[in-house]
Amino acid sequence: MTAIGLDIGTGFVKCVSDTKKIKFPSLYAYRKLAIWEGKKGIVEAVGDETVTLAGYPNTRVIRPVMLGKPIHDKGFEKLVRKAVDLVSETNDAMGQQAELSKACIVIGLPYDAKRYAENIQKMVTRLFKPKRCDVVAQVLGTLVDVNLSEAIVVSIGHGTTEVAAFKNYVPIRGISIHHAVNEISTELGFGKMAYLDSNVFAKPEVKPLIAMLADALLDDLNWMRQDLEHLPTVVSGGGIMIPGMKDIIESKLSQKVLVPQDPVMSNALGLFKLASQEC
Ligand SMILES: Nc1ncnc2c1ncn2[C@@H]1O[C@H](COP(=O)(O)OP(=O)(O)OP(=O)(O)O)[C@@H](O)[C@H]1O
Ligand SMILES: [Mg+2]
Repeated sequence: MTAIGLDIGTGFVKCVSDTKKIKFPSLYAYRKLAIWEGKKGIVEAVGDETVTLAGYPNTRVIRPVMLGKPIHDKGFEKLVRKAVDLVSETNDAMGQQAELSKACIVIGLPYDAKRYAENIQKMVTRLFKPKRCDVVAQVLGTLVDVNLSEAIVVSIGHGTTEVAAFKNYVPIRGISIHHAVNEISTELGFGKMAYLDSNVFAKPEVKPLIAMLADALLDDLNWMRQDLEHLPTVVSGGGIMIPGMKDIIESKLSQKVLVPQDPVMSNALGLFKLASQEC
């Protein structure tokens, strides 16, 4: 393996390497074993396994990422470790260390989360000692994934919607909007893990909330486009997969938007491309 692109989202971790492409929920959980369970101690789960552990009433389910930023150090580190373990070719520690020492890792963060970049870079360097580790604005991943160097990129995520304008791969203007897919699930009282089943977004009662989310995004997007209307608009993130979202955005914008082939993985795919170029 030579390169890894890592997108640690509020809802899902997405990670791409030369040979693997993975996605799992950004969830960490633990529970203390009861006195008759045979063993003592704590049981932990990360990602998909969290759902099973959550079936026990004494489980604590933690969302280590909020608004695209790390808010629970231990949980966040577990997400990063799991992602890298899953895309590694080797399972044993020595083999993985050798593999990663030759790899470049590029990690994406929300536009307004630059202050977290240094700590994340230090953490990844401590955990894996890669050849190189860079942290960039996550929507740069989408831009690179669709083979453009300038565009307005919107990524509708679970916790934040990113809007950034790029010229020659440099984000010249950007904003992280705190309106995203989770406000639909929260508003309907679907529960903190309901978003794992994307079918909830096809329910008829969701329709008006999709329009409200689109309104919030369009307000900021139009502001950003004022003097940049000549640039194409690219929309990625799980939010653009919600039935009707693309149509609403295009009708309110009076312009077609470009949606990457795999909108959920798009940031990670582009971050991987960047990592490959660096190595
Ligand atoms: N068809 C779908 N496929 C995948 N996700 C979908 C789909 N429809 C709706 N979604 C929702 O999109 C959201 C996930 O989007 P995404 O993975 O882009 O967010 P994130 O990167 O985890 O969050 P953020 O970027 O805000 O930190 C989830 O709430 C998910 O349920
Ligand atoms: Mg995201």
